[in-house]
Amino acid sequence: MAARDRDSLVSAAGEAEERALEAALRPKNLDDFVGQARVRQQLSLVLEASRIRERTADHVLLSGPPGLGKTTLAMIIAAEMNAPLRISSGPAIQHAGDLAAILSSLTEGEILFLDEIHRMSRPAEEMLYMAMEDFRVDIVVGKGPGATAIPLDLPPFTLVGATTRAGLLPGPLRDRFGFTGHLEFYSTGELELVLRRSAMLLDLKVNSAGFAEIASRSRGTPRIANRLLRRVRDWALVHKLEEIDLRAASAALDMYEVDARGLDRLDRSVLTALITKFNGGPVGLSTLAIAVGEETETVETVAEPYLVREGLLGRTPRGRVATAAAWEHLGMVPPAGAMFGETLFTLTEESAPELFED
Ligand SMILES: Nc1ncnc2c1ncn2[C@@H]1O[C@H](COP(=O)(O)OP(=O)(O)O)[C@@H](O)[C@H]1O
Ligand SMILES: [Mg+2]
Repeated sequence: MAARDRDSLVSAAGEAEERALEAALRPKNLDDFVGQARVRQQLSLVLEASRIRERTADHVLLSGPPGLGKTTLAMIIAAEMNAPLRISSGPAIQHAGDLAAILSSLTEGEILFLDEIHRMSRPAEEMLYMAMEDFRVDIVVGKGPGATAIPLDLPPFTLVGATTRAGLLPGPLRDRFGFTGHLEFYSTGELELVLRRSAMLLDLKVNSAGFAEIASRSRGTPRIANRLLRRVRDWALVHKLEEIDLRAASAALDMYEVDARGLDRLDRSVLTALITKFNGGPVGLSTLAIAVGEETETVETVAEPYLVREGLLGRTPRGRVATAAAWEHLGMVPPAGAMFGETLFTLTEESAPELFED
C-alpha cells in the first residue's frame, strides 16, 4: 500500500527488504531476548516442563502490536525445544485443504508457527480446533451426499500462533492454547539494551546519550529501534562521524521526521485529523481511518496502541478522542469545553496559562 511505503521507516511492520537484516539481529535464545520478563519467565517454565515430561510443549499464543518480538519468540521456542520449525500464516491458509496439507506433513515434535492467525479462514479454523486438541483431522473426500470424512492422525506438535489482535480470535480457538503471552511495549531502558546488542553486531560506535536518544524515539518497539539505528548509522557515515552521539542521533531522526516522542507521520496525521477535522473527537475509528487515508486495521493495530499508551488518544464508548496532551504535543490549545472522553475539560489559568497572559 502506498501509505505503508511512505511510512516504511517508522511503520512497525517489517518490509521485505529488511527481513534479511532483521534475521541477523534476531536473538536466538531466551537469554538474549531483552525485556518482556513475565512472558519470558512463563514461557521458559512451559518449555522446561515439557522437556521434563518428554512431551511436546503446550500450544502457545503470542499477541501484541507489530515489531515486539512474536516471530522472534516463535523461532526461539523451536531452538529451545531443539525442534524443526514450520512457518505459515493466516492469510496463506485460505482453504481447509491448505491447512490439511501442512498438518499432515508435520513431524513429531515440530513447531508450527502461524503468523496473523486471526486472518485464517473459518473452515481452516475449525479444522485447527480438532488438530490442536486431538492431533487429528478429518479429510473430506468427495462432494455432496457422497462425501466422506477420513480421519487422519497427526504426530504431536506445538502450535505457536501470533496475532496483533487477540480480541479478534474466536473464543474456542483462544481456549485451545495452553499458554498465552501478551507482549507489551518496551521501556526506553530495554530498547537501549536492544540497541547496544545490535550496535555490537553491526560494529557501530554509539555513546550512551546516542543510545538513549534513539531508544526514546523508537515507540517502545525493537523493530523500530533497529531500523532507526541503521538510519542514524547512514547519517553518521555520510557526515564522517566516528561515534554516534546525542547530536548525531537527534539530527538524523529529525531528518527522518521521527519526533522527540517517537511519533511518526502516521501517528501525527491521526492526531492532527482527530483534532483539526473532528475537533478532538469523539469520532469512530473507521471515520478517522478514512480521514487519514489508511486502512482501519492499520490505524487500529499500528498507530493506536502506542498513542493510547502515550496518553495521547483515548478510547471511549462514543469513539476516539484526543487528550489534552495530544493538543499540547501538536502545539495547539484545546477549545474551551473540549470533551476528553466523558469528562468536560474546562480551561483554567492552571491548565492553559497561555490563555490568561495579556
Ligand atoms: N526482545 C527482543 N530483544 C532483542 N531484539 C528484539 C526483541 N524483540 C524483537 N527484536 C528485534 O525486532 C525485530 C522484529 O521482531 P519480530 O519478532 O519480527 O516482531 P513481530 O513478529 O512481533 O512483528 C527482530 O528482528 C529482532 O531483531
Ligand atoms: Mg512477526
